[in-house]
Amino acid sequence: MELSRKGIILAGGYGTRLAPLTNSVSKQLMPVYDKPMIYYPLSTLMLFGIKEIMIITTKKDLNSFKNLLSDGSQFGVNIEYQIQEKPDGIAQAFLIARKFIGNSPVVLILGDNIFYGSNLVKSLKEADANKDFATIFAYRVKDPERYGVVDFDQSLKILSIEEKPKEPKTFYAVTGIYFYNNTVLEKVLSCKPSPRGELEISSINEEFLKEKKLKLKILGRGTAWLDTGTFDSLHEAGSFIRTIEQRQGFKVGCPEEIAWRKGWITNKKLENLSKKLMKSGYGEYLINLLKDKSKISSL
Ligand code: DAU
Repeated sequence: MELSRKGIILAGGYGTRLAPLTNSVSKQLMPVYDKPMIYYPLSTLMLFGIKEIMIITTKKDLNSFKNLLSDGSQFGVNIEYQIQEKPDGIAQAFLIARKFIGNSPVVLILGDNIFYGSNLVKSLKEADANKDFATIFAYRVKDPERYGVVDFDQSLKILSIEEKPKEPKTFYAVTGIYFYNNTVLEKVLSCKPSPRGELEISSINEEFLKEKKLKLKILGRGTAWLDTGTFDSLHEAGSFIRTIEQRQGFKVGCPEEIAWRKGWITNKKLENLSKKLMKSGYGEYLINLLKDKSKISSL
């Protein structure tokens, strides 16, 4: 039987670029309009069917995440937790989670990455189905030097990946969601820290590239990949979510709704979840889902 993919949300780091907001609260718990930031990457994983999830965070923030999400059963998923002592690199997540990953393929999403768009779930499902390969997603940005940058030819064959290059070869940033087969565990064991002392995710991608096992998907113009790294971009991400939600009346990144639409939780459970959230309007949204006769799931 094929092993199902495990999901990791990396939600550590010091969040220094958002200080003093992050002096006592984790960056990934900051509000993005009406939800804590981590609801969005959690929802992204749930949308394409991931149910076994590990959240990696700091010792200081662990209890806050547990208080918010507990064991995940309220969302019909299973959430485990691990601590990253120091932010020694994104790729360290695989070392920390190696027992949890076992022999399975894995997907890592950064806890501050927000994705939204019409073809997104289809693309993620395709990457998930491709269990022998690794898949990364690129998105056009106007400031590629802030990211991992991928160069590719017309058939989407990857030519190079460079971490924060001074002179980027393209405008395409590698986004913070990475699909890997189980060989990622061997690759991270032989990975050496970069000059800035981190186990770089770009080094792992380069290893898959050398083996000709790395696929690239482009998230097109109809997709939003939102930045939350500065005061302004965090504010703008919140405004973007608010605009969509106010116009459509659907919430973006609502794990309760996704769990319910997928049949992972019952009507009764959704109703119970809504009761604790009535005063904010979030609960009213959940209870109204039960009344909505529309046949279109509109996730
Ligand atoms: O967002 C996509 C970009 O993420 C990619 O294009 C880059 O290739 C990748 O290196 C990364 O770049 P960032 O500059 O955004 O990485 P940063 O160090 O800010 O970490 C991203 C998130 O991961 C941040 O919320 C904190 C968390 N993190 C980071 C490191 C290095 C951890 O939890 N632990 C860590 O050790």
